[in-house]
Amino acid sequence: MKRSSKAGAGAAKAMEILAALSRIHGAPDMVKIGSVQVSGVSYNNIGEHGLAFLEEWASMGSKAVVPATMNPGGADRRIWKSLGFPPAFVRKQERVIKALEGLGIKPTLTCTPYHVGVTPQYGEHVAWAESSAVCFANSVLGARTNREGGPSAIAAALTGLTPRHTLHTDEGRLPTRIIEVKCPVPTAADAGALGYLIGRLVASDKGGGIPFITGTQPPTGPERLTWLKALGAGMAASGSVGLYHLEGVTPEAVAHRAKLVTAAKQKSVIKSLAASRKALDCGKGDLDVVAVGCPHASFEDLTRILKLLNGRKIKVPFWIFLAEQVRKQAEATGVAKALEQCGAALVADTCIVVAPLKELGIHTLATDSAKAAFYLPSHHGASVYFGSLEENVEAALRGSWKKI
Ligand code: F3S
Repeated sequence: MKRSSKAGAGAAKAMEILAALSRIHGAPDMVKIGSVQVSGVSYNNIGEHGLAFLEEWASMGSKAVVPATMNPGGADRRIWKSLGFPPAFVRKQERVIKALEGLGIKPTLTCTPYHVGVTPQYGEHVAWAESSAVCFANSVLGARTNREGGPSAIAAALTGLTPRHTLHTDEGRLPTRIIEVKCPVPTAADAGALGYLIGRLVASDKGGGIPFITGTQPPTGPERLTWLKALGAGMAASGSVGLYHLEGVTPEAVAHRAKLVTAAKQKSVIKSLAASRKALDCGKGDLDVVAVGCPHASFEDLTRILKLLNGRKIKVPFWIFLAEQVRKQAEATGVAKALEQCGAALVADTCIVVAPLKELGIHTLATDSAKAAFYLPSHHGASVYFGSLEENVEAALRGSWKKI
């Protein structure tokens, strides 16, 4: 087949996928999208079949027609050797990235496109795939996206279109349940723990749970965004939640409060986070690594960690996951060097959930991420300690886990 007709075949395959999804969801038409975020990038997750699928699609020559970025892959592309990633795995990972680049998707390798310059506007339709990114885009930014799968996100990138249904529609964004929070939620880890509980409460709501949360607020200052993204990541993990409304905070909850409150047919009250701490903090044995940056850390998160370390040296590997672009910012400002002098490693392009942990000899971890604590035992058979960023930094300095 000639290249041009193959390229046509790539776009035709994309339209076939979108048409099938439209039929399944009863979408009346397609919406134009402003950006795409593609998941299914880690070779650890997609394996040989996924790689072959992407290489075949890339061979057709079609390219993204809207800005499209990649979710984390399975390895840091720059410092994989010093971190102990197996060369054979890294070679496979590079092939996945090459195939996606062939489809016109940028190798940002992050679940936080909004930290690397892709920030959709309020009301803008996008097609994002990673669950915490989807929840952030819908809830915090007020953009509109369903949770795409890897192939449907690529199909959206190649056509600039996605089926209009669920979270792309006004009625699909109405809350199903009021969640009244009656306990303090001071830290981002607590927000993740709250998100985990909310996800469990709304998971079985008809049509997919959308909470309208009252009684709690994020902290002010740079921790605000970290708190909000942890909240969404927690409920996206435990309940596949793609959108939350937070009274007085998220844009739709501010603009349409009365309409949203009336729409919610059920109500739950959360009086304590103890149940989620109990479910998520199940670590046993010696720590192999302390892992923070899930979702990927912002530059402000790095400065907070630096302050907590206060020049002290860590005793077990302390990995901070982030986008390469944020790492470059940290390098340019001296923050990376100061963190590395304390023994911390800034790990880009991957994350603790999608990296090949067994090959890295990692069995027991600590994290401040409810999402990571939720997935690591089932995905990797890992033993996980869960607590605040402060508890994680102290564990890295002490070399063992202890509640503060
Ligand atoms: Fe991002 Fe990986 Fe966590 S993709 S949200 S750092 S599981």
